[in-house]
This record gives sequence, C-alpha cells and structure tokens, in this order.
Amino acid sequence: MTAAAIGLPADAVARPSPRATRPGASTSLERVSFSFQTEKGARLAIESANLHIEAGELVCLVGPSGSGKSTILNLIAGLLAPTEGRVLENGAPIDGPGPARAMVFQDAALFPWLTLRDNVEYPLQLAGTPKGERRARSEELLRMVHLWRFAQSFPHELSGGMRQRGAIARALATDPAVLLMDEPFAALDAQTREILQGEVERIFLETRKTVVFVTHNVREAVRLADRIVLMGTRPGRILRDVIIDLPRPRAANDERVAWFAADVAGEIRSEVEKIAREEADDAWVAPGGRVRVDPRRNMGGGI
Ligand SMILES: Nc1ncnc2c1ncn2[C@@H]1O[C@H](COP(=O)(O)OP(=O)(O)OP(=O)(O)O)[C@@H](O)[C@H]1O
Ligand SMILES: [Mg+2]
Repeated sequence: MTAAAIGLPADAVARPSPRATRPGASTSLERVSFSFQTEKGARLAIESANLHIEAGELVCLVGPSGSGKSTILNLIAGLLAPTEGRVLENGAPIDGPGPARAMVFQDAALFPWLTLRDNVEYPLQLAGTPKGERRARSEELLRMVHLWRFAQSFPHELSGGMRQRGAIARALATDPAVLLMDEPFAALDAQTREILQGEVERIFLETRKTVVFVTHNVREAVRLADRIVLMGTRPGRILRDVIIDLPRPRAANDERVAWFAADVAGEIRSEVEKIAREEADDAWVAPGGRVRVDPRRNMGGGI
C-alpha cells in the first residue's frame, strides 16, 4: 500500500498549521480512584492513580485489556467523575465535558449522513460559529489531513484510514487544548497505521496540543510518545512511566524505536501473563516456559 492508496499525496509535505489559538493544557490526576456501579456492586476500575501530563506533551497509555486506559481518557474528558481524588486541567478541577477536550475513537464515528466537510463543521455549528468561519476552518483542517479533495465525500466512500484522518480533523475543529485518542488506529492495517502515526506526529508538532494516546501496540507508543505510561490490572493502576527521548520526527523503521519497544514490551508481558494465568481455566503455558498445571484442577490426581 502506498500513501496515495489511502488518499495521501505521495509527496505530502507539511502545510502551515491551521490557526491554533488554544495552546495545549496540562492535565493531572491526583490520587484518582474510579469505580463503576454494577448490579453486583462497585467495580474498581482505577486505583489511586497519580499522573501529571505537561501542556504540549504526547503521552501514550499502554497496558493490558482492562487496565483502565479508556477509563482514564473518560476521566480526563470529563465524561466520568472520579470516585476519589481530583482531575485537573491547568490546575483547575474538570467539572464535565467541554470543547477544550476532544476524543477520537477506534471507530471514526463520523456521521454517515453528512459529507466529510459537514462532519468537520458539525462541532462548530453546535458552538454557534458563523458559517463563513466554519467553512474556512474546515478547509484548513481538511487540507492539514490531506483530505480536501474528499470534502464532499460521504464516510462510506472513504477508506478506514481516510475516515480516521477525517475524525482527527473533526476533533481539532473546536481547537481543543487536549486531544484524547482511544486506540484510533487499532482497526487499520499495519501500513496505513504507520502512515497515520506519521500524520499524528506531524499534527502534534504543528499544533502543540497535549495528546493522550491509548494503544495496545508498544511500537506505536514508542514511535509517538514523549513518555509512555505503563498500566497494570486487577485493579487498573499506573505502574510507571518511560521517557522516550528520541528525536522527532521519528521514522517507523528507526532501529532505536524497535530497541525501546522490545524493552517496554518485556515489562508489559509480565502483566499480560498475570492476567492470562488468572483467566485461564486450564493449564497456562508461559511463552518458553513449562506447562504449569493448575492444582485446583488436579486435586486427587495422584491418589
Ligand atoms: N461500563 C462499565 N461498567 C462496569 N465495569 C466497567 C465498565 N467499563 C469498564 N469497566 C471495567 O473497568 C475496568 C477498566 O476498563 P477500561 O475499559 O478502562 O480498560 P481498558 O484498559 O481501556 O481495556 P481495553 O484495552 O480492553 O480497551 C475493567 O475491569 C472493565 O471491566
Ligand atoms: Mg479501552
């Protein structure tokens, strides 16, 4: 697959950034715990998380399924309120969702009945932005993600990678201070994914937004992050962080990216193995290890 195949010009060059009037904001979680209320009672999803993200920092949250990555994004977005502790933006408590924080999901979730351009303008329409200004802004943003040629297309006429770029343009429409991305490229093929990682890095360098990016893919995290925050499970919590001080822009095939990724992957593996052992209802074989027979399933076997 080439860049052209997903609608990117082969000679795609950095364009001047759209007017970013709102700089990135710092975000903090202070001793944050969050429990979901379920029929079976409270389920602790995040336990006592402390995290400070600088304004204009790109942080990737990495960890096994169920470690609370999406919950942290929802807390920062203001869609969930902490059960304990505080979530702050530039030092002030976040008291609900707002235009200063925008989310991009795995599934682009563009409105199928609107053209790409109208999708990008939709949040501006909600905010009461006059039509002329809306038009100018959507053009800037669609040019930035190299989709201006497709402004009149409907989402079903676009590839998955193009839809995700459209979703990023829409998320940036209100000029948010913080961009929250929940596994935005998980459903894409590897090559499209690499191209879009480069796009995210370019947009990040141009706009200097604060970006919190959730991924299961360690290599993707190393390619993108200033800092990787490792999460663990049972209960969901922050384990530690890893600074990725590689120069930007980073190349997908940079050997140093692979080296860092192998290191971080080793840390995550032990968490994943922990879950697998807990969830396996049969013998669990650690990669390269011996079969470990669950003694609960083998009671009396030697009698
Ligand atoms: N609506 C909900 N009601 C009850 N429990 C929930 C709900 N959403 C998530 N949880 C639980 O909270 C914990 C954290 O979930 P969360 O979705 O934040 O994890 P995640 O790290 O994003 O996982 P994944 O990688 O699978 O997306 C999990 O134990 C999950 O089962
Ligand atoms: Mg999730």
